[in-house]
Amino acid sequence: MSDKPRILVTRKLPDAVEARLQRDYQPMLNPDDRLYSTDEIIEMAANADAILPCHTEKFPAEVIARLPENVRAIANFSVGHDHVDLDAAKAKGIIVTNTPDVLSDATAEIAILCMLGAARRAYEGERMIRAQQWKDWSPTFMLGAQTTGKRFGVVGMGRVGQVAAKRARGFDMEVHYYNRSRLSADLECGATYHETVEDLLPHCDVLSIHCPATPQTTGLLNRERIALLPDGAIVVNTGRGGVVDDEALIEALTSGKVFAAGLDVFNGEPDHIHPKYRELDNVFLLPHLGSATVETRNGMGFRALDNLDAIFAGREPGDRIA
Ligand code: DGY
Repeated sequence: MSDKPRILVTRKLPDAVEARLQRDYQPMLNPDDRLYSTDEIIEMAANADAILPCHTEKFPAEVIARLPENVRAIANFSVGHDHVDLDAAKAKGIIVTNTPDVLSDATAEIAILCMLGAARRAYEGERMIRAQQWKDWSPTFMLGAQTTGKRFGVVGMGRVGQVAAKRARGFDMEVHYYNRSRLSADLECGATYHETVEDLLPHCDVLSIHCPATPQTTGLLNRERIALLPDGAIVVNTGRGGVVDDEALIEALTSGKVFAAGLDVFNGEPDHIHPKYRELDNVFLLPHLGSATVETRNGMGFRALDNLDAIFAGREPGDRIA
């Protein structure tokens, strides 16, 4: 019998990542990429030394409590960790890791895509051509909002926020940001720091959300805060859906207070996103594609495996969050 550690892998991972898993571990793979129920995860965990889950599997305190004692680690295939109760894991002695850095470029690309898709009415234009409804070109046809030279406001100037800001500078945008702590001048790159979200919002022609989902950021973009945005602002969310109060954003999109939104993440995704988003023309919607490139998904998998390698070699994993 092999003495390699047994890893419960909850989702189908890229081939290169699964090949490394097969080489170095005894993985329980999920070739059909079926979404496991919590009960199934608990049952399979009986034969696992660690779990390698995605954000699609939830580990609140009550699930952590049910995990068998043999589970030493949860090595997430994600940078976000709002699906794991870190305090409960820590209390049970389970090491938790995530995959920062490797997805910053890909997610920032999607933020810029969401910004442009929303600003330049990409969804309406696409739909018009596919439905054979494009009849004419005229000087006043489908006018969007120009982003070049405008103000790009970032909530959450972590790794992804910083790359998104850098890309926005490529459009000659002036960067403003709110972060729990101010960045050093070399990371700030001339961006203007605002001490509160309220201070930041009036300076956002485009507001791009990059903060993690925490109890403190739940519903952060609410009615009162949206009112502080300039009229006709654009809202971009590639962080987590929970940061946005959907009713408030939909109201602002309907009234025109917000010109358009580009959203890659949603409350209740994938099945229970607010139905009104599907009806609005001025939203550009993507199905949580932030990190969805081959390079990045390989990078995430390898990073999760680097963390597991360290844990099972008795070393401190690089990306320990609990
Ligand atoms: C992340 O890594 O947090 C992405 O949203 C995918 O889970």
